[in-house]
Amino acid sequence: MRVYLNGAFMPESDARVSVDDRGFLFGDAVYEVIRLYGGRPFRLGAHLARLERSLAGAWLPPVDREQLAAVVEDLTRVEGAAVPDALVYIQVSRGAAPRNHPFPDPPVPPTVVVWCRPYHALPPDQFLAGIRVVTVPDDRWAKCWIKTVNLLPNVLAKEKARRAGAEDAVFVRDGMAIEATSSNFFVVRGGVVQTAPVTNYILPGISRQVVLELARDLEIPVRLEPVALEDLATVDEVFLTHTGCGIEPVTTVDGRRLGTAAGPVTRRLYNAFEARVRSAADR
Ligand code: PDD
Repeated sequence: MRVYLNGAFMPESDARVSVDDRGFLFGDAVYEVIRLYGGRPFRLGAHLARLERSLAGAWLPPVDREQLAAVVEDLTRVEGAAVPDALVYIQVSRGAAPRNHPFPDPPVPPTVVVWCRPYHALPPDQFLAGIRVVTVPDDRWAKCWIKTVNLLPNVLAKEKARRAGAEDAVFVRDGMAIEATSSNFFVVRGGVVQTAPVTNYILPGISRQVVLELARDLEIPVRLEPVALEDLATVDEVFLTHTGCGIEPVTTVDGRRLGTAAGPVTRRLYNAFEARVRSAADR
């Protein structure tokens, strides 16, 4: 695998980041994950725009968007030709400097890493069988809209889910289920799709946005309201959205079985999502 590191492309084995890197020491870095479908990045512009917002939120200097897009294009051309279904990862840290909490003064160059790795999607029947989630208290900070690599609460919540025999955890804040550890959270009740509105407490997901567009196109009603924990007992369908697999059906919530596979509204949106990502016009 080729890696882009601070202005140069190199084999992964040659890519080295300092032990003083602030991303490593403090989680002082932001990131993006972009999916390639058929070797082409999906919604690249939206991902780069969100990266810019995350950089600004972390008081990191902006990156040259055109240049970064060219890096992604370059990796995509080489890796994407060989691995049409892949993920591109971009990380920008505040750079390497002797450990000290305040920003380095004078500033040091940021560390910019980009790589592209194959993504192995499950076969549709296995995928549509859905996953199990558990709910956990949201003990993260109040700037979840910044896509920071500071993911310890998310990692602990995912592990808590695994230990409870589930695949993912849904964060509950003030009695409301708002998002999962690395995806946005949707329910369907009485034919209405419901998800939390964008606030500082969730990441404004690109896949979430695509699903909202698809629901509008399919004339599926949408309610932008967080889902109360007690209402989870009566929802018909649940799904998550994230860059990895787009729409991910959920069939068990806190041990309550919703069905043996993805529900009808989830399937409609899933099929529309698949059609959208495969259509050249949308890339
Ligand atoms: N996670 N919420 C959180 C906390 C996330 O980390 C993510 C993405 C999402 C979904 O956003 P999008 O649809 O833009 O991928 C929501 C990425 C995939 C990750 O951390 O690997």
